[in-house]
Amino acid sequence: MNNELVDAFLQKYNQQPIATYFAPGRVNLIGEHIDYNGGLVMPCAITAGTWLLLAPNNDGVIRFNSINFEETANFPIQKEYSKTGKEWYNYPLGIFHELQKGDWNASGLDLLYFGNIPIGSGLSSSASIEVLTAFALNDFYDLGNDKLSLVKISKKVENEFIGVNSGIMDQFSIAFGEADKALVLDCDTLKYKVVDCDLGDYVLAIINTNKTRELSDSKYNERVEECEAALKALKSEINIQNLCELTAEKFALHSHLITDETILKRATHVVKENDRVHLAAKALNNGELKEFGRLMYASHQSLRELYEVSGKELDAVVDFCKDYEHIIGARMTGAGFGGCAIALLKKGYEEDFAKQLTEDYVAKIGYPAAIYVHQIGDGVKRSDEVLVN
Ligand code: GLA
Repeated sequence: MNNELVDAFLQKYNQQPIATYFAPGRVNLIGEHIDYNGGLVMPCAITAGTWLLLAPNNDGVIRFNSINFEETANFPIQKEYSKTGKEWYNYPLGIFHELQKGDWNASGLDLLYFGNIPIGSGLSSSASIEVLTAFALNDFYDLGNDKLSLVKISKKVENEFIGVNSGIMDQFSIAFGEADKALVLDCDTLKYKVVDCDLGDYVLAIINTNKTRELSDSKYNERVEECEAALKALKSEINIQNLCELTAEKFALHSHLITDETILKRATHVVKENDRVHLAAKALNNGELKEFGRLMYASHQSLRELYEVSGKELDAVVDFCKDYEHIIGARMTGAGFGGCAIALLKKGYEEDFAKQLTEDYVAKIGYPAAIYVHQIGDGVKRSDEVLVN
């Protein structure tokens, strides 16, 4: 176990932690804003993530502490909780609330969290803490839920307790991710394939725009509603449950049913993005990285022009990448409105890229972006060997 975390636990709670768990963050390689439309997505877990140390207490209280945030909270044992304010501990509190809907009754517990996923960066720090807490409580108290149930519980917390109508991609990839693999997940059936993410001479660079995503939750829910409106219009003529059941050809035959121009743009993105994921999965399988990169650029353009979830910061990064000789593909990843972009960068150019991008970005935006090269790592696990990187 990592000594600093253990020391911090000891200091805060005056007892030793008994168990440690880890849940990663995620990047989505391609397939954006289509998980809640029953589409195909291609996320992978990254080696940055969130750790949780815990030990029972005899005081009948649930205590939340984090190394990252000053706010702490103590909650008495109750069968039900509700969201209080916007603090970080609402995410794990929601998990206690949801898990206690079954037979389980919580008892006193001291919890200490630490994360190295930049908050609000689109790398799913919130899903990471949800899945981490659900997995840890399930394992520690032997509650008997399988991983998929824990994913669904975590998504429910995000949707109902927190109030963001997100799809299942983040929680799923954080639970089921595997080192050096991407998941090709059908968000309608929840069937998935694990594919080798062999990037050959390239690395996956993650570029954080350092633009905080204040409006993201309300804008996100707005996009979900726009997709529902598109589906409703199409359903007047065709029998579908999800927008992603349509290929681009079939969509073209019925798109006249959508009379609102904005809604039409949103639906066009969804259908075409879903097609791109099929092509991208094929390209990755065949080692055609240039084709994969081309699809990444096309995805970004669609998110920028049709889905309108990019922004000047993300566009500045992707535009720079297009002009940079040693990058073959780049796009925003996650919900958008700020947060992170990803790029396929030729090995050996990490430093040069960081330097040149920083100059260009500061000139355009006024403050620097941050560049990381994380590896593709494992999903949630008990991790008494804490390896913070
Ligand atoms: C957020 C949501 C996901 C997904 C992405 C966009 O990360 O939590 O469910 O919709 O945005 O692809």
